[in-house]
Amino acid sequence: MSVRRVVITGASSGIGRALVDTYCNLGWDVLPIVRDKNGDAELAAVRRTYVVADHTKLNELHDRVAWIGQEKLDVFFGVAGDFGRRAFRFSDFDVDAWLETLKINLLAPAVIARALLPGLRLGRPGRCIFVSTGNASIGKNTRGEMLGYRTSKSALNQLVRTMAIELENEELIVTAVDPGWVRTKMGGASAPTSPEWAAYRLYRFSEGLRKEHSGRFLSVEHHDIPY
Ligand SMILES: NC(=O)c1ccc[n+]([C@@H]2O[C@H](COP(=O)([O-])OP(=O)(O)OC[C@H]3O[C@@H](n4cnc5c(N)ncnc54)[C@H](OP(=O)(O)O)[C@@H]3O)[C@@H](O)[C@H]2O)c1
Repeated sequence: MSVRRVVITGASSGIGRALVDTYCNLGWDVLPIVRDKNGDAELAAVRRTYVVADHTKLNELHDRVAWIGQEKLDVFFGVAGDFGRRAFRFSDFDVDAWLETLKINLLAPAVIARALLPGLRLGRPGRCIFVSTGNASIGKNTRGEMLGYRTSKSALNQLVRTMAIELENEELIVTAVDPGWVRTKMGGASAPTSPEWAAYRLYRFSEGLRKEHSGRFLSVEHHDIPY
């Protein structure tokens, strides 16, 4: 069997970085995508090849990643994310900060995934997995706040649904997954789950995906989360 290939964004820290280690340890061909060249020192030690693609520079993204999609790609993990600290409450959001969060959490993953489609089509099935969050659930939102984060991730879930319907006759699986609460820069020190365990659960999640999961917003155990 040929070596399997995975692309991971947000690869410089947290869940993305732990996913890189997990897949490298399992012998996969791993292509990390990072924001810039500063966060990569450790990464360069484990992976010589990585791609620099700042998610806010939407006009550059396609050209930076399209070459990756020229070969078979088994999995794309869209992990990079922004919490939108300056777009936290409706009463005092900063519109530029909100726009930046939308770029990072919604538009950039869409642009990258579309650029990678030719390779994912050869994955048979290619798995296109976007890391969402329980905070994206409109039905479960009883507290408000996290305006930029919630709206961008809810829209990401809608992207998943729309992509999956458009691509339903192809050998592709498109899902949104909530990784749970994880100890990272974003999740904070109190979170119960280590990045390593979260990454292993996401790997298992990916391996357990079937066509019937496509278009759904799921927990790492493949349970539906209410939109
Ligand atoms: N931790 C949790 O409890 C939790 C729960 C639910 C969902 N999530 C989701 O999990 C994903 C990973 O988050 P994390 O917890 O691992 O936090 P993290 O360590 O803060 O990781 C966020 C990643 O996104 C990258 N990123 C941010 N802005 C970017 C940009 N403009 N261009 C390219 N990359 C950019 C960061 O790169 P730099 O290293 O350069 O900053 C970093 O690698 C996010 O999508 C988040 O919404 C996390």
